Amino acid sequence: MLKRHEILSWLRENDPGRLAELWQRADEVRRQHVGDAVHLRGLIEISNYCVRQCAYCGLRASNDGVTRYRMHADEIMDCVRLARHFGYGTVVMQAGEDYGWSAPAMADLIHQIKDETELAVTLSLGERSDEELLLWRQAGADRYLLRFETSNRTLYERIHPSRGGRVSDRLAMLRRLHEMGYETGSGAMVGIPGQSYEDVADDIDNYADLDLHMIGVGPFIPHPDTPLSKPGAAPTIDARQQVPNTPLMTMKVVALTRLTCRATNIPSTTALASLDRDGGRVSALARGANVIMPNMTPPDYRRCYEIYPAKACIYETPEQAHALALAEIERAGRQVGRGRGDSPHYLAAAAK
Ligand code: 5AD
Repeated sequence: MLKRHEILSWLRENDPGRLAELWQRADEVRRQHVGDAVHLRGLIEISNYCVRQCAYCGLRASNDGVTRYRMHADEIMDCVRLARHFGYGTVVMQAGEDYGWSAPAMADLIHQIKDETELAVTLSLGERSDEELLLWRQAGADRYLLRFETSNRTLYERIHPSRGGRVSDRLAMLRRLHEMGYETGSGAMVGIPGQSYEDVADDIDNYADLDLHMIGVGPFIPHPDTPLSKPGAAPTIDARQQVPNTPLMTMKVVALTRLTCRATNIPSTTALASLDRDGGRVSALARGANVIMPNMTPPDYRRCYEIYPAKACIYETPEQAHALALAEIERAGRQVGRGRGDSPHYLAAAAK
């Protein structure tokens, strides 16, 4: 296991020759613990309504430049059938925190997917109540994704305003999801203004402590219509402490996460591909990642799901996203995963 000072020194390492050693170690651990399969998860962005005011996200409630949409269950089922047709093992339904999707309506949809297909169902619907999460779990939902975004509590509170007097505590929610039997996924952004090297080392510690089954990390990308893209919105820290929001730094975090949480699933994220269009996805696969989430949202909707600007895949069709993922897996010299692609870490715990 890596010691904290080693994590910190890798995060500050910029020599390509030395970094080659980190990439190689992460790739080896990935191969030993999760194998060569790259699992595909079909991502369906089912609604871009959001009641929250996260300071970094283009979908925040007060951004009135966004054309809002909410997909109908029938439209979502068409995407689900397409995911099955493409051979995916999982569909991920993601939205802003949208109470227009009532808990019973979502439970009905989960039932419908489970009745009709063998697909694993992953939800990424924000900070919903325990009752709602439990209802969805009972309806058959398998996994829940909720990034904690940063371990630095002061920074966290600064960029996640509370709602209705309820302070946001995603770490506590992740523990409850775990208890409910969800396969839990989380992650953080890299290079948030005000985020230090120590903070990123804490993120990696937290991944291990939370016993996560999936860990997604992507670079922070400033969105011009959000407060965090403006100077002065974040706590000021010494420039030498500020983590850069670069593809290279993100890949170091991916590799260190693989060395720390060996048997977890790690996606090669869209945010990383957005900053490094030619090589981002494939490089991450060679540096610890083992999952790709092709975007299956119908093109007219996906254009409106702009959490950050210049998002990769914004003009693709599901067919193009699928073909691209297959080509990337081929370029990385890997194989497409079969079945649901549960994390070996989760399966080992479930068998106990
Ligand atoms: N830059 C990078 N990632 C972002 N996300 C939201 N806004 C941004 C941004 N401006 C990420 C968050 C969220 C996920 C769905 O998208 O980590 O959890």
